[in-house]
Amino acid sequence: MQPADPFLDRTILGGQFHITKKIGTGGMGSVYQATQVDMNRSVAIKILHPKLATRRDLASRFRREARAMSQLTHPNTVKVFMYGQLEDGAVGGGSLFIVMEYLQGRNLNRAVKREGPLPLPKAAAILIQACGALQEAHDMGIVHRDLKPENIFLCKQGEISDYPKVLDFGLAKVTERQMRPGSIQLTQEGMVFGTPEFMSPEQAQGKTLDARSDIYSLAVILYEALTGKLPFEAKTPMEYIQKHVVEAPIPINDRTEERKFPEPLWGVLSRAMAKSPDARYQSAIEFAQALRPFAESGPAVEAIFQMTPAPPATSNPSIESPPSSRRSPPVAAAAAEVQPARARDSVWVLIGVAAVFLILGAALTVGVLLLLMK
Ligand SMILES: Nc1ncnc2c1ncn2[C@@H]1O[C@H](COP(=O)(O)OP(=O)(O)O)[C@@H](O)[C@H]1O
Ligand SMILES: [Mg+2]
Repeated sequence: MQPADPFLDRTILGGQFHITKKIGTGGMGSVYQATQVDMNRSVAIKILHPKLATRRDLASRFRREARAMSQLTHPNTVKVFMYGQLEDGAVGGGSLFIVMEYLQGRNLNRAVKREGPLPLPKAAAILIQACGALQEAHDMGIVHRDLKPENIFLCKQGEISDYPKVLDFGLAKVTERQMRPGSIQLTQEGMVFGTPEFMSPEQAQGKTLDARSDIYSLAVILYEALTGKLPFEAKTPMEYIQKHVVEAPIPINDRTEERKFPEPLWGVLSRAMAKSPDARYQSAIEFAQALRPFAESGPAVEAIFQMTPAPPATSNPSIESPPSSRRSPPVAAAAAEVQPARARDSVWVLIGVAAVFLILGAALTVGVLLLLMK
């Protein structure tokens, strides 16, 4: 039997919030619905698992998430009201928390699972709005790094249903300019983190990331929202990581029998999923602009382009050489300590030292230490 959740039906922060329900559990902790008693409103509270609060790296990451999110004001980013640490001596004492607006709806992953792939005009409109949210983050030097359908929430906003909100900046990379003096650099070159299914090639290789890595992930999200499938056929997280690096994505019209998409859409998607960041759209708003012809119009979509004027379009990049001719990058072998692979979890992959590679000039030998953030 599962032990009772220590937070359910408890009040925290001197009685300010009454926790009523658990609404999500992830690698780092849980998300609860709560009532803010004084204001009689619902809020969502994300609490870092009390057992993890003593892990300095995780605590620092969680604080960084809170700080990053609390600076973002875009309407398509979940609003953060406050964050901090639960008082000692109370339930979950010492645990870190983030209080956010409570969103009614479901995340994009659940929507596609339950209701099937989305019609193109709707999916494109959702992605355009997500691009708006990301553009603000990118302008502030924040790269999300864990974009996936689970982190895009479709909520009711007044009369509008399926209004997207970007969640979970848990892996967000805050560039130097955003860092406070004394905060620890969480990730280093050679350390891969993210969710294998949605990782950009540079993320899969542990390279330094910028906004263009998020654009790649957004394109994978759109591909999945339209087809219910990912752009690669793979069975394991490791295989996804590998394919993002070396394999061309399966053309969207070859992926489903039931639906056919306009050919120019594939032009947009494959550019956003180009292996080289230089060959992609260079900003989220530029990607949004490219999606505009496919999207249903409406005030929410129009607002994105009013908030952020589109930049001059970058010229179409030359076609990249086919992946088979690509020289396999040197990668490593290491022991693996892997929890039972639960797809779509954010993982940290430690790449060790290169061991054996280059069989017949093309084989990619990848060995890793997978640390699932559980
Ligand atoms: N503000 C919110 N309102 C309603 N549901 C939320 C909210 N924040 C998160 N959730 C739900 O909880 C899930 C996990 O939240 P998330 O912030 O992504 O945490 P994790 O780090 O555990 O992935 C989300 O996919 C979503 O379904
Ligand atoms: Mg999440």
